[in-house]
This record gives sequence, structure tokens and C-alpha cells, in this order.
Amino acid sequence: MNIRKVVIPVAGWGTRSLPASKNIPKEMLPIYNKPVIQYVVEEAMVSGIQDVIFVTNRDKSVIEDHFDYNLQLEGVLERAGKKALLEKVRFVAEMVNIMAVRQKKQLGLGHAVLCAEHLVAGEPFAIMVGDDLIFGDVPGIRQLMMVAQTENKPVIGVMEVPPDKVSKYGIVAGRERGDGVYEITDMVEKPAVGEAPSNLAIIGRYVLTPDIFDHIRAVPPGHGGEIQLTDAMRSLARERGMLAIRMQGERFDAGDWVDYLIANIHFGLEDDDLQLNLLARLQAELADYA
Ligand code: G1P
Repeated sequence: MNIRKVVIPVAGWGTRSLPASKNIPKEMLPIYNKPVIQYVVEEAMVSGIQDVIFVTNRDKSVIEDHFDYNLQLEGVLERAGKKALLEKVRFVAEMVNIMAVRQKKQLGLGHAVLCAEHLVAGEPFAIMVGDDLIFGDVPGIRQLMMVAQTENKPVIGVMEVPPDKVSKYGIVAGRERGDGVYEITDMVEKPAVGEAPSNLAIIGRYVLTPDIFDHIRAVPPGHGGEIQLTDAMRSLARERGMLAIRMQGERFDAGDWVDYLIANIHFGLEDDDLQLNLLARLQAELADYA
């Protein structure tokens, strides 16, 4: 199973990030010196995916622009001799091929994925949810691609969450094979606390086969009255079998303010030019709360 394309749905309102996201797509909010979406696209790129399909809306075209050349800015940087910065901005334009399709009505994640059907064009493909940032030794989506390739089955990424958080996620029930790989037996979107079949939450990484589109078309509106990808995958899993893998690495939910702020500090501390100063300032801040 060779994966060349990734669908990245970015048409959500981003209500969790308001008022910051009032006029800026939540995907463009920075974590340290890059917008959230750049980390997601970099993960796809280093995993060997070259074609990115954004499912957008009328307010999100700035996301596509971010991955295109900005010749005026490049001219300014070139004339000023700012080579390192010039390379950084050019690199973003050269990472991947960009395609975009509009989700004209916000009818749910399943519906968003269905909007990309003609661009996926009958190939197995990846989906990455733009809020979920995963940093591991093996890039997040690559972990799924490796299993999908050897097992020739659709694969989704899961992580354990505390029992009181299950209602925020799609939850998977499965038989563990012993190596962090589960054969999925059931899946439910945002179950009530106490009613979840497990605490294995779907983290926004998927490798699916194109027959998912028929299942998306067939499922009725589910949680929140939306067309849920989880409901379509449950149907796909029953028909042809699906795997879940326990993902390795650190995850940040960019729509959660604590995760967002910690991710900023995490990447700030990795910058040698900032590290000492940032640490000293953080220690001083923390002392106020001791
Ligand atoms: C979506 C999916 C959910 C999944 C989550 C991961 O929910 O519907 O199954 O667990 O992404 O981030 P959303 O966060 O868009 O409500």
C-alpha cells in the first residue's frame, strides 16, 4: 500500500482558539516561529508524502498561500542579503504539492473527507487532523504508513486518554496483538464518560483505502448531527478489517491552550539562541506561583 497523498481538513471554525482565531485561521496561529499547519505538513513531507489536499473554506486561503512562493518578500530578503531567512521562506513553498477543495457546508469530518474524493482519485491515502501535533522518533503518520504497507489494511492512530476525557474523542475497541497493534472490533464517536468501550482515543492520523468514501456516503448523521468519519470507519472495519496502532511520541492538541502554550515553550527551548534566556524567565515566572 503506497501512500502519496494526504487529506488535511482545515475548514473548522476553531472556536476553542477564539478570539485569536477570529480573523486568522487557527491553523495559522504560531507555535514558536511556525504556524501550526507547517508542523503538520512537515510531518507529511518527512514521511514521504508529496501531495497535500487541504479541505478549506472561504476564509482559509492564507493556508495555501503559506505553502506558495512570496516573490515580493523573497526579493526584499535577497536585496537585504538575509540568506538564512530567504532559505526558510523558500523551503516552505517547496516542501509539498498543494491542492485545495472547498467544504462549502460544515457537515462534519466525514463530510470534509468526502469533499476530497475526486482528488484522492481512487488511491489509498492519509488523513491528518490539523490540530494534532505529534513528535516522535518516527514521524506520526509514518508510523501508520509502515503498518498499512506490511498489513495491507487501513490503520488509525490511537493514544490512551484519561477516562474523563473520552467524550472528546473517537474511541476504539480492539483486540491487542501484543505489539501495540489492535484489530479493531468497534468504534464510537465521543461516547459519554462511563460508556466508552476503552480509553483508546483516535488521534488525528489515519491511513485509509478509497472504499471509505462509499461508507461515508452511506452513514447517517451521527454525533452532533454531523457526518462522522468514525461512523464510516466502523462500517469499513466491519466489512474489511482495520487496525489501530498505539502511537509513539509526544502529542500536543493545538486547540487546547495548555498544550498550545507548552508546545511554544518546548520549541522555544530547542532554539539555542533562546534557551538560556527563556529558562531564566520561566524560572522567575514559576517562582511567583511557588
Ligand atoms: C475529530 C474526530 C475524533 C478524533 C479527533 C482527534 O474530532 O472526529 O474521532 O478523536 O478528531 O483530534 P474533533 O476534534 O474534530 O471534534
